[in-house]
Amino acid sequence: MNKTVTVVIGGQFGSEAKGKVVSYLAHEFDMAVRTGSPNAGHTVFDEDGEIYKLQQIPATFLNKYCILCIGAGALINTEVLQKELEKTNVKDRLFIDPQAGIIEQKHLDQESDLVKSIGSTGKGCGSALADRIWRKDFKLAKDVFAGEYNIAEASEMINKGIDEGKSVLVEGTQGFGLSIYHGIYPYVTSRDTTAANFLAEAGISPLAVKEIILVIRTYPIRVAGPSGPLAYEISWDDLSKKVGKDVIEITTVTGKTRRVGEFDIEIVRKAIQMNRPTQIALQFLNYVFPGDENKAAWADLSKEAQDYIQDLEKQLEVPITLIGTGQANEAMIDRRI
Ligand code: IMP
Ligand code: MG
Repeated sequence: MNKTVTVVIGGQFGSEAKGKVVSYLAHEFDMAVRTGSPNAGHTVFDEDGEIYKLQQIPATFLNKYCILCIGAGALINTEVLQKELEKTNVKDRLFIDPQAGIIEQKHLDQESDLVKSIGSTGKGCGSALADRIWRKDFKLAKDVFAGEYNIAEASEMINKGIDEGKSVLVEGTQGFGLSIYHGIYPYVTSRDTTAANFLAEAGISPLAVKEIILVIRTYPIRVAGPSGPLAYEISWDDLSKKVGKDVIEITTVTGKTRRVGEFDIEIVRKAIQMNRPTQIALQFLNYVFPGDENKAAWADLSKEAQDYIQDLEKQLEVPITLIGTGQANEAMIDRRI
């Protein structure tokens, strides 16, 4: 059997810059499948610096030859999808699994309490999944999109692609610490966030996997509000002082200020144990080494930054292959080449 699948996942609490990593790798894939839901946002910049905040469409879309799929395990907010399609213009090469679920207004309405109790993004994802499990009054993509969008079994398309040797990206969402099973319950999302689960939601065998890329950040974040424990939490002011300039991050989906913490190796170790990544993509190196901001080659990094990465690599026992040094797409060091 061909092993042509790469899975990209988050190793902390989301917002690890998976969008940037996926769009950096986009040209390497013939097909991509996203299974997440609109509580997760992936930010992509095109060549002209235009920003795309994607909650439904795979972040490989800038590769015009990449077939884009939304898997059966995904949930779709029809309005969000429509807006993204208007902006990205990929309707012809987007295929939605007939059994992807639909989020309705009632699901959004039901989550206002969750926003207050666990800092939910309030996008209706948990409520919709609960209805899916009840197996009543729950709509699927085939019920609402027939004739409007391409409806096709994503797993079938992708598995045929795998048989033909096509390279496939499974775009994971959120982060390890948000898993409903392995995260810090109840401060978790409504699904598991391991590589195995994203494969299950897309309908792909683990045996088809070639690479698992765990994306982590030097300073992990959680979304604003009562979103649960964050080890070694600091303020953006503290971080700004270290970096030597003002830094602050706003969440892609909710538009609120994120919470930030010092690097916590324990959660990353757990993410590695359960996912067995073949590579790590370390992002936001510029927060630790501001002088190395926007560097794009290993040889150009300061000795301190090189030592930091090599030391972390030794501790984690996984190669750190993709290093993000800034916001721009070019601000990436690729040690695979
Ligand atoms: P929900 O999945 O929107 O109900 O949110 C449940 C918990 O997971 C909250 O603490 C959210 O802040 C967090 N969460 C859900 N999705 C994401 C994400 O994509 N990035 C970061 N945090 C998320
Ligand atoms: Mg995000």
